[in-house]
Amino acid sequence: MSTPQVPAPRPHRIAVIGSGPSGLYTAEALLAGDPSVHVDVIDRLPAPYGLVRYGVAPDHVKMKSVIRALVRTFDDSDRVRFLGNVHVGPGGIPGEALREHYHAVVHATGSAVDRDLGVPGEDLAGSVGSGAFVSWYCGHPDAVGPGPLLDRPGVVVVGAGNVAVDVARVLARPADDLAATDAHDAVLDALRASAVTDVHVLVRRDPLHVKFTPAELRGLGGLDDVDVVVHDDGLLAADVAEPEERRMRQNIEMLTAWARRSSTGAPRRIHLRFLRSPVRLVDDGTGRVGAVEIERNALGDDGRVRGTGERETLEAGLVVRAIGYAGEPIEGLPFDAATGTVPHEAGRVLLGGEPVRGSYVAGWIKRGPTGVIGTNKGDGAQTAESVLADLPTLSTPPRPGGDAVVERMRSYGVDPVLWEDWLRLDAAELALGERRGGTDRVKIADRAEMLDAARRHSSRS
Ligand SMILES: Cc1cc2nc3c(=O)[nH]c(=O)nc-3n(C[C@H](O)[C@H](O)[C@H](O)COP(=O)(O)OP(=O)(O)OC[C@H]3O[C@@H](n4cnc5c(N)ncnc54)[C@H](O)[C@@H]3O)c2cc1C
Ligand SMILES: NC(=O)c1ccc[n+]([C@@H]2O[C@H](COP(=O)([O-])OP(=O)(O)OC[C@H]3O[C@@H](n4cnc5c(N)ncnc54)[C@H](OP(=O)(O)O)[C@@H]3O)[C@@H](O)[C@H]2O)c1
Repeated sequence: MSTPQVPAPRPHRIAVIGSGPSGLYTAEALLAGDPSVHVDVIDRLPAPYGLVRYGVAPDHVKMKSVIRALVRTFDDSDRVRFLGNVHVGPGGIPGEALREHYHAVVHATGSAVDRDLGVPGEDLAGSVGSGAFVSWYCGHPDAVGPGPLLDRPGVVVVGAGNVAVDVARVLARPADDLAATDAHDAVLDALRASAVTDVHVLVRRDPLHVKFTPAELRGLGGLDDVDVVVHDDGLLAADVAEPEERRMRQNIEMLTAWARRSSTGAPRRIHLRFLRSPVRLVDDGTGRVGAVEIERNALGDDGRVRGTGERETLEAGLVVRAIGYAGEPIEGLPFDAATGTVPHEAGRVLLGGEPVRGSYVAGWIKRGPTGVIGTNKGDGAQTAESVLADLPTLSTPPRPGGDAVVERMRSYGVDPVLWEDWLRLDAAELALGERRGGTDRVKIADRAEMLDAARRHSSRS
């Protein structure tokens, strides 16, 4: 007697838009949570991993190894696909069209917009957001053009978070230190030719109110040929009350030790300038930044700063704002412009306080642009839990999944990069790494070259 066949569960199709950490952790939790779930991970770029690939600094090689865990999301190729090179929204496939193929859509699109300082001169040449600057050194395909202006000795970096530390370190450390990373040749060449000697990091509050994490800050102290100079108006010497929080205690200990250190005469310096804000970027007469007027701040009891009117000028040919990011509104979804996020409850998108059926968010677009890679794991798990709980109540999509999705994308002129295409691009980058020697991979930064490598010798080329 033959055993009765148990019918395979009817698949529930879920699109996760964004292949950064939050998208991939959500996808992983969805797949693990219910065998009926099939996931398409969709990204506007031909390569997966979001800011792990295009934000984490090239010299943070260990950090990038998180990719070895993220890649496992794609292990079950019967239930999960990667559809890269697919912009969801204007100019790509409209969100509404995509929605017709899925029971649920999780938006995990991050927060990629650079915030502004709101000071005069901010739109001069030589004034850039950290998003643009980081995209350049990470070889992001959108970072087209000549690259940042590194032809003058002074650079100002505004902000006291880990991104400011990354930017200052990349600008100050010897370029050859980056030869053993995935940085592409044009970035190495520009950094080798750089005239930068002094990187001024402007911290608007005092040493007790920085967002740096100790491990990142420590990284500045150990650079070859770089002195860290602390400008704190004597605050640290005046016995700062020992902070309760361990992170802050470690920061203060480090900064105090650096403040006591004398110059080694290193050819480059990172100046940490506390209680200073830029008030004007000064035109050098050619429409480019030549200097930055800065003001000393006083800190109120509420932790907020106010200008004291005491000003000075720093010469700088480049200004990088590392003051955080904002999310972009998503077509058809509510948006809170004040926080740059989509309103939600446990990942369920909320409109007027009510959940929008089948729409979810994860990661930075859900909770704002803070938190390390690991923070997105719990965040993605929470969103996945909400999706899985709602599955029985979600409507059957009017259009099929599988190849029909790819055909639909192509009808909008969007040709997806599939997982096997990405693996070809990945292999091409590894081969470039082998050719350069001393590094695993060299990134291909040009979008056309990425697509060419992805599709070379593919069965559909
Ligand atoms: C410069 C920088 C350096 C960092 N370095 C570290 C570090 O060293 N260590 C650490 O732990 N954390 C680091 N972080 C924090 C970490 O990168 C974030 O916590 C994490 O990447 C946020 O994940 P996410 O998935 O929400 O967003 P993202 O990683 O930004 O992923 C969003 C994805 O969505 C895609 N996307 C956006 N819009 C669309 C669209 N319309 N259609 C299709 N796809 C779309 C994007 O291409 C991207 O791949 C860094 C952050 C920054 C900004
Ligand atoms: N290696 C790593 O682990 C790593 C590396 C990079 C990024 N990350 C993470 O990614 C997230 C984003 O980092 P981030 O550096 O962009 O953000 P962040 O940690 O929020 O820091 C932003 C900084 O900008 C300052 N700022 C904001 N507006 C300003 C203004 N108008 N003028 C002057 N300063 C201003 C803030 O000062 P106030 O505090 O005074 O507001 C703060 O110091 C963080 O969670 C970070 O830890 C981690």
